[in-house]
Amino acid sequence: MRRIARRLRRSKPVDEAPLIAALERSPAEAALPMPPADIRYRIVSDALGEYDFLRVGIEARISIEEAIAATGTRIEELGSVLDWGAGCSRIMRQWAPLFGQVSFTGTDIDQVMIDWNVANIPGPRFAVNGAEPPLPCGDEEFDLVYGASVFTHLDEAMQQRWLAELVRVLKPGGILLLSTHGPYVFELSRHTFADDDVAAFRDRGFVFIRNIVDGVLPDWYQTSFQTTDHVRRTFAHHVDVIDHVARGMTGYQDLAICRKRA
Ligand SMILES: C[S@@+](CC[C@H](N)C(=O)[O-])C[C@H]1O[C@@H](n2cnc3c(N)ncnc32)[C@H](O)[C@@H]1O
Repeated sequence: MRRIARRLRRSKPVDEAPLIAALERSPAEAALPMPPADIRYRIVSDALGEYDFLRVGIEARISIEEAIAATGTRIEELGSVLDWGAGCSRIMRQWAPLFGQVSFTGTDIDQVMIDWNVANIPGPRFAVNGAEPPLPCGDEEFDLVYGASVFTHLDEAMQQRWLAELVRVLKPGGILLLSTHGPYVFELSRHTFADDDVAAFRDRGFVFIRNIVDGVLPDWYQTSFQTTDHVRRTFAHHVDVIDHVARGMTGYQDLAICRKRA
């Protein structure tokens, strides 16, 4: 980790100063091993360098902290947190300074990444969950559940089934954070989409595009895009949507900040 901090310091000191500070501030995180390239690949189905792995993890942590602050609390004050779709702990590792204080659970459909977490990230509880609910967790177990870049891969019906399940494991009044692909990401890739898909996003506020065929990820795992109006309308069946922040997750994906009804 020191090597990466040194590399960051040398490269772009102005833009990356907060990242360097974050790395140097957290010896607990820096002590954790870096997942090997083939494990990092499984998160985004693409080669993901160590630098970007750390950078996105830090940026996601900051986005989550800001979202929780908007609800009037801090993660340090919570008893139990679920990172749903934790991958190989890109975000989870950022909470390392709090591992003794807050109870963390990470779940994912990917047995390989969960096995890596169990062997390398001491502190949180890790478990595999199926493509469909339920989670291996009790009713009303968590104060906070977040899913970073998970709904971005589910169709509308799966999103609805998972919303119901995530609400089940939240305490009444608990916070749910879910990132989605909004108009910003859609526009970045629009030139690669078929006219029908562009029309569906414009007319329905949701489109599910089958553009992931890599032999690693399951067939149902593709790419969804949805508008703020779609999120507010469809999530409201399950939770109060307190806010929906355009590009609120790392400046890239949108972030829905929700609360379970008491
Ligand atoms: C783009 S990756 C993001 C991983 C992690 N949240 C991060 O930001 O590093 C999406 C993750 O969601 C997981 N995933 C997809 N569908 C899931 C589901 N139904 N339940 C749990 N995990 C799921 C994938 O296996 C993958 O690890």
